[in-house]
Amino acid sequence: ANAGQKPGRTRNFIEKMDETNKNCIVFYGSQTGTAEDYASRLAKEGKSRFGLNTMVADLEDYDYENLDEFPSDKIVMFVLATYGEGEPTDNAVEFYEAIRSDDVSFTNGSSLENLKYVAFGLGNNTYEHYNSVVRRIDETLTKLGATRIGAAGEGDDGAGTMEEDFLAWKDPMWAALAESMGLEEREAIYEPTFAIVDRDNLTAQSEEVYLGEPNKNYLQGTPKGPYNAQNPHTAEVAESRELFNSKDRSCIHMEIDISGSNLSYQTGDHIAVWPSNAGYQVDLFLKALGLTDKRNNVISIKALEPTAKVPFPTPTTYDAIARYHMEICAPVSRQMISTLAPFSPTEKIKTEMTRLGNDKEYFHEKTGHSFYNIAQFLTVLGEGATWDKIPFSAFIEGLNKLQPRYYSISSSSLVQPKKVAITAVVETQALPSQDAPFRGVATHYIAALADKQNKGAKSDAYDLTYQIAGPRSRHTGTHLPVHIRHSNFKLPSDPSRPIIMVGPGTGVAPFRAFVQERAKQAQDGAEVGKTLLFFGSRNAKEDYLYESEWAEYKKILGDKFELVTAFSRDTAKKVYVQHRLKEKGEEVHELLQKKALFYVCGDAARMAREVNTTLAQIIAEYRKVTPTKADEVVKSMRAANQYQEDVWS
Ligand code: FAD
Ligand code: 2AM
Repeated sequence: ANAGQKPGRTRNFIEKMDETNKNCIVFYGSQTGTAEDYASRLAKEGKSRFGLNTMVADLEDYDYENLDEFPSDKIVMFVLATYGEGEPTDNAVEFYEAIRSDDVSFTNGSSLENLKYVAFGLGNNTYEHYNSVVRRIDETLTKLGATRIGAAGEGDDGAGTMEEDFLAWKDPMWAALAESMGLEEREAIYEPTFAIVDRDNLTAQSEEVYLGEPNKNYLQGTPKGPYNAQNPHTAEVAESRELFNSKDRSCIHMEIDISGSNLSYQTGDHIAVWPSNAGYQVDLFLKALGLTDKRNNVISIKALEPTAKVPFPTPTTYDAIARYHMEICAPVSRQMISTLAPFSPTEKIKTEMTRLGNDKEYFHEKTGHSFYNIAQFLTVLGEGATWDKIPFSAFIEGLNKLQPRYYSISSSSLVQPKKVAITAVVETQALPSQDAPFRGVATHYIAALADKQNKGAKSDAYDLTYQIAGPRSRHTGTHLPVHIRHSNFKLPSDPSRPIIMVGPGTGVAPFRAFVQERAKQAQDGAEVGKTLLFFGSRNAKEDYLYESEWAEYKKILGDKFELVTAFSRDTAKKVYVQHRLKEKGEEVHELLQKKALFYVCGDAARMAREVNTTLAQIIAEYRKVTPTKADEVVKSMRAANQYQEDVWS
């Protein structure tokens, strides 16, 4: 234990709660920050609605031998994400293993009869081990004699209902908790977590003012590695081109130069792109809040609670915060609407806001399933009035931090170790009751960079100059901030081993890298095994990705390379990759007998699952085993990494 101990900090959470006079601790097990966000929201709500003295805690920061000494008049909350194949998040591993160990014992024995807790899990229903972490911890705690208050909640990222699942869970939970602890609900009083301090002595041109730079090195014009999820490298775009042949859809191939950065990648890894928000969205946001005139005023942000952390560097400006640090384009949440209701411009709007925040059906009916972002929502609802009564802290707390987007690298590190390719489909979605379509943040930013590079176009929408080295040495080239994330999605070390790849749409990205790599290995004299790729798209004319490149690889690899296509909209009946896989069942079976690796990339929601099912059917048919046995074979292929997935929803 204790490896991660920070000097002078106790690892005894009961002691910590006593010292700081808390009666509710919200532990999170979080990988990407969503569970941590939900934990903060619970802590905040407990405080404002029920007067609980709450604190948020990273599971990794404490020890749990004394869990049995937790006082019965206090409450523990768990917000636990399930990761990968049913695993706890990195920060929850120790806790998870400790309490689930066969010889678990606590300071006074092995019973937790004093402990009262609530639990919410974050999972993805497209994976087999849906929410298994919260389920197992809940089961274990109950078995050890602890009492759960309310039901254990489960949020489903796969169905895209995480937020609604959370809201639906927490109200009955609060009611049960209030009853159990004798809490009285009061009218929620909003208490800001952050204070905004005007820095009138500074201007946006001042040297110490952050205008999108992620850290001090950037501000001073000397960005330094190591580059990672906290510190991106501002890479030069080497080239980019359009891959579709279509009037209204776009997919961009972009080559990103990582030389001079000491970043490195391996075929099959991901690259994270750090986007910024479009200028017209920033304008709308600032306008709705009545901040247009103050957009370039310099402010500092101070945390008013010892456990709160300002999520971006300051001093900075409202404009920079909205542009580079907050997810302002995502659909507004009902919780946010509830929080903002008391600050409505008029009583009438306040009544409406309160109702929208509390009533799910009404909310959906009223917004016409249109996914307004925060600014669009406030603009429509405010009927032109500005929302200048809202403390800016509410946005820092309530909106997510602008997240990097991941892309499966579509180049081989053997062929081009210092140039990373991505294959990104530009997200545009018409919305029923809005004039403008929804435009994906990162992909439109990538598209603007491509236009700048290829057409010299100045982007109307994006500020493409900020990314490097502070206000006084802004970059005029074509750059974007990135970092690399290593993955386990890998080619076999022995090139003669056969591989089967299934990648419709942009799911083909890592397979372009795989085939590129195998062609190079063949040119270098290696014996390359069968390389079978299933690709699918709408039709052969518009979105047949890398069509001419496949022909080049074929020239090198000969009959070792086979491409099987499924065009879903060229014929009356939809043809998908899994249909082609089935048609090729016998060959797939034979390759698997020769220890072929099986890879799937792309849509997690339906495609990946259907491919899994189809493979099991093939195994049942050609190995002549029962469907149950075939399912087990596929499971053991997964466990042995013979079946690998790189999927997203
Ligand atoms: P965002 O702004 O993040 O929006 C995403 C989606 O959310 C939209 O399409 C829309 O459906 C919905 N949405 C958000 N806000 C609203 C709103 N206000 N109204 C309506 N709808 C809304 N993508 C690729 O193209 N190629 C790849 O190789 C690739 N690899 C990936 C690998 C991994 C491991 C992961 C996790 C993802 C991968 N992705 C890939 C997806 C990619 O990371 C992005 O999610 C995708 O490009 C969209 O990002 P965006 O910022 O443009 O869209
Ligand atoms: P569709 O849009 O015509 O239905 C890349 O997006 C390709 O994947 C498209 O041809 C798309 O077809 C197809 N696709 C859609 N749903 C799928 C599924 N459940 N399984 C496999 N492919 C699918």
